[in-house]
Amino acid sequence: MSDKKASNQMWGGRFASGPAAIMEAINASIGFDRKLYAQDISGSIAHSEMLAETGIISAADQEKIAHGLNTILKEIEAGTFEFSTRLEDIHMNVEARLADLIGPAAGRLHTARSRNDQVAVDLRLWVKRECQRVAQALKDLIAAFLERAEEHAATVMPGFTHMQAAQPVTFGHHCMAYVEMFGRDLSRVRDAIERMDESPLGAAALAGTSFSIDRHMTAKALGFREPTRNSLDSVSDRDFALEFLSLAAICATHLSRLAEEIIIWSTPQFGFIRLSDSFSTGSSIMPQKKNPDAAELVRGKTGRVNGHLVGLLTVMKGMPLTYGKDMQEDKEAVFDAAET
Ligand code: ARG
Repeated sequence: MSDKKASNQMWGGRFASGPAAIMEAINASIGFDRKLYAQDISGSIAHSEMLAETGIISAADQEKIAHGLNTILKEIEAGTFEFSTRLEDIHMNVEARLADLIGPAAGRLHTARSRNDQVAVDLRLWVKRECQRVAQALKDLIAAFLERAEEHAATVMPGFTHMQAAQPVTFGHHCMAYVEMFGRDLSRVRDAIERMDESPLGAAALAGTSFSIDRHMTAKALGFREPTRNSLDSVSDRDFALEFLSLAAICATHLSRLAEEIIIWSTPQFGFIRLSDSFSTGSSIMPQKKNPDAAELVRGKTGRVNGHLVGLLTVMKGMPLTYGKDMQEDKEAVFDAAET
């Protein structure tokens, strides 16, 4: 990271000095929000096209802006983009580089926009894409369980309550219970996508803008069903992130119960299943052991995902409308939960 500028070049004009080093460190989100680069750039391109279409900026400026943004996209993807902590976040890093590349036309991109609606649109796009990926992963998982259920439609096993052998069931029947659980997870993902499918772009800082922008145009260009309705809500809503974390936590909890069964069933005392070598570990001094590490990690990582949900709920619970910097804390929770 380079530290080229003395004070923040985006808003520091009336500040005599730059931020203290410790302030810069706590304030910067570029270390993690660079993950949003693709969404940030497509959001900016859509916004610039709308500004040109409505006559707010010239077509020539829009062309320069779009060309510059595409160059930046390539630089980031090639790993040659120089991120700076002094420029706080992905939005200002991209904007500053755009000014280097195309000069004064870059400044016109931020007309009728604020980082508040910008970050809201970026994160929504990211979470929506992630939800679509999770939906596909759940479909694959359900298909795998259906296959197993069919194979074991007549494989008798004990059914348990209180972990006491209760009544005979089949393993197929047991697998179908997971088909139901992951089926509900899938319906929760679809439901969440449906609700988050609104574009907050145009809410600007909080109260909209006096420029006559076309919010339907940017919503459509970015693949949203429609624009959001209330500008204050648009910049302060993080329900979509909370919903993602809740559905992730419920799904992880289901996976954790499965992991727990795998762990119990693979003990010599139960002996229901034998784990494959590729998903277990051993011990040099206790050669009789085959440790179910993969299942234990699934069970363990559930704590981490559930923790992110409680973490973001706690960040949001005390926040008055509208935006506050607290909300910058939404990203790492969402990113880590998605990756986990
Ligand atoms: N990095 C900020 C975040 O993630 C972007 C929005 C900043 N807005 C502001 N008014 N300071 O929340």
